[in-house]
Amino acid sequence: MMNDGVNIDPWGSEQSTDYARIIDQFGLQSTDSLAIPNPSRLHRRDIIFAHRDFDQVLTANSRGDPFGVLTGLMPSGRMHLGHSMVIDQISWLQDLGGDVTIAVADLESNATRGVSLAEGRRVALEEYVANYAALGLDPEKCNVYFQSSRNIVQRMGFQLGKRTNLSELEAIYGFDGATNLAHVQAPLVQAGDILHPQLDEYGGLRPIVVPVGIDQDPHLRLTRGLAAKSNWFNLSAGKNGGQIISVSVHDDNAALMGVDANGRVDKDKQAQIFSRIVESIVDLGFSDIMSNPKHGTVTIPGATTRDALGIRMRLLELERSMGGMGLLAPCSTYHRFAIGMTGDKMSSSKPKTTIFLGDDISVVEKKIKGSFSGGQATLEEHRRLGGNPDVDVAYQYLMYFFEEDDDLLADINSDYRAGKILAGEMKQMCVDKAGEWLTNLDEMRHQTAHLVDDFLAEDAR
Ligand code: TRP
Repeated sequence: MMNDGVNIDPWGSEQSTDYARIIDQFGLQSTDSLAIPNPSRLHRRDIIFAHRDFDQVLTANSRGDPFGVLTGLMPSGRMHLGHSMVIDQISWLQDLGGDVTIAVADLESNATRGVSLAEGRRVALEEYVANYAALGLDPEKCNVYFQSSRNIVQRMGFQLGKRTNLSELEAIYGFDGATNLAHVQAPLVQAGDILHPQLDEYGGLRPIVVPVGIDQDPHLRLTRGLAAKSNWFNLSAGKNGGQIISVSVHDDNAALMGVDANGRVDKDKQAQIFSRIVESIVDLGFSDIMSNPKHGTVTIPGATTRDALGIRMRLLELERSMGGMGLLAPCSTYHRFAIGMTGDKMSSSKPKTTIFLGDDISVVEKKIKGSFSGGQATLEEHRRLGGNPDVDVAYQYLMYFFEEDDDLLADINSDYRAGKILAGEMKQMCVDKAGEWLTNLDEMRHQTAHLVDDFLAEDAR
């Protein structure tokens, strides 16, 4: 778009697959260094390849502290395999102990796609939540709500809008003067979706993870920035080690912080604030805490980055006790995309690029048989040169969706490369496995249909 780096656009039809470069350019963390308990198929196969601060969730979990999970759905179109990948992750996170909140983006789809709220509700329940139940989400630990009936997310969108401007949205999303304002408002309400579960009324301060496809990272960057800019106390690593707390004076906290309209500082009030900061962390066990109101900092020389989350939580609690929102930046995990069946990006608006969870088996068979193949042009060449599973849709779909057994998958991979498995045979394996998977899902949909209402939060009933 406007630079020669990788461009990721949540609304675009192009998709970069240069994942190493994406990690680098957007400052993501690789999942390689994380110790993930009971890794799922998607972890084991490196499909979930990057994250931001997901270690916070693992740390909280290992200490027995709560964490939350948030995702959202656009109630338009039909649910396809790409969407099911996020639900697999939510299910895994739920098993790990997370509580789950799911936003139905009915305001967004109303404003940007012309879907009425009533239609949005129908689609959300019949097409999405029905499949969530069938895919095994536990309604007891899950709350589905609608943007239109949860005022707080709209209010937060408005309040957080104060912490950004058009230039930033242009830089993040490539917006320009012709951009419809509904597209500007949607990411702000979505920031409300992502941040509100940590408010006291919705479960309280705890890390919230948002598992997404890499194309959604712009939303996370925006939301993390908004949370950080709204904070009253900042924490950063000191140049010579240690952690440094500083105070961020805004128009909404200046009076409390002892700063008047002319920027004059009330020394007594300031001293009070600094002693409250020290008090808030004193029992964390650091041998030295150096308060320096003149410099506007509190330094903890003995603290390391491993202590940062604990300190930050105390500061956010302090902010909340003083009337601020006290928002922790959300964590996120990123998954790679399965290629679309035609070789292009998977998209609900192009039915041939994907498998819908409600597709007939006969339709699925046709899609797989006609899908992009990594086989050679002739039988002789295929036996001699072997196929390429990396671009073969049938193989990729076994890996992403249908084949649980790692050893079997590794054999299929090497036999394909060796030319022992033919392209047509690979497609047939995929057809068989997909058929099994979809038949099973259909049966589960019937068995779990009565649970759909149990997923709804009180304000969604
Ligand atoms: N905008 C998302 C989409 O296009 C839907 C959404 C709304 C969402 N709120 C969210 C996704 C919060 C993740 C987190 O699909």
